[in-house]
Amino acid sequence: MKLKQILMGLTLSSALLLTNISFAGGEPDTSSSMIGMTAAERVTSTPKGELKNPFTGDEAAIAEGKGLYFSKSCNGCHGGSAGGGMCPPISNEVFVYGSDDDTLFRLITLGSDNLAKAGYFRKGMEGVVGPMPPFGVGMDEDSDPLIDKDEDVWKIIAWLRTQYKGRAERINW
Ligand code: HEC
Repeated sequence: MKLKQILMGLTLSSALLLTNISFAGGEPDTSSSMIGMTAAERVTSTPKGELKNPFTGDEAAIAEGKGLYFSKSCNGCHGGSAGGGMCPPISNEVFVYGSDDDTLFRLITLGSDNLAKAGYFRKGMEGVVGPMPPFGVGMDEDSDPLIDKDEDVWKIIAWLRTQYKGRAERINW
């Protein structure tokens, strides 16, 4: 999927979110159907704030997520236990854009430059050294995404949650 389409899709999904309000009541609960498409499609087809990890606490998915974290080289920037390397730690309480499932899924899929274009802003600062690269969309128009399936992004996030070292009252996932 091309970046332009994704950004258009994001605008569309915010518009959908607004129209949804008038249709509230009849909509099915989509929380259990958060897998089955590409990560990029998942981002564009889900209104802002509604992405929810179906694998939180799922032991098998967490083990797979840990494998993906290493095979996709997240550890190269964030360290082997997500405690930060040359890039921000993911295991502490400070989250640059927010700590909820929706924000982390979009950040990993789109990367921080595209996330900013989609209207997300830095809330915290963690000694930023550069942008987080996109994993669910190609780096440019000619390259394929590094992560295809939405479920792989969710599994990585499920593993990241197990590395969290902050206070329990901050947990919003
Ligand atoms: C090239 C280095 C690099 C790689 C590889 C990388 N990241 Fe990042 N990541 C960053 C940077 C830099 C930031 C901070 C972005 C910002 O402030 O806009 C970040 C931010 C994040 C955050 C938010 C952290 C916070 O404290 O709010 C998460 C979650 C994250 N990355 C997950 C991942 C995952 C999962 C992978 C592998 C699929 C990955 N990153 C691969 C550089 C990287």
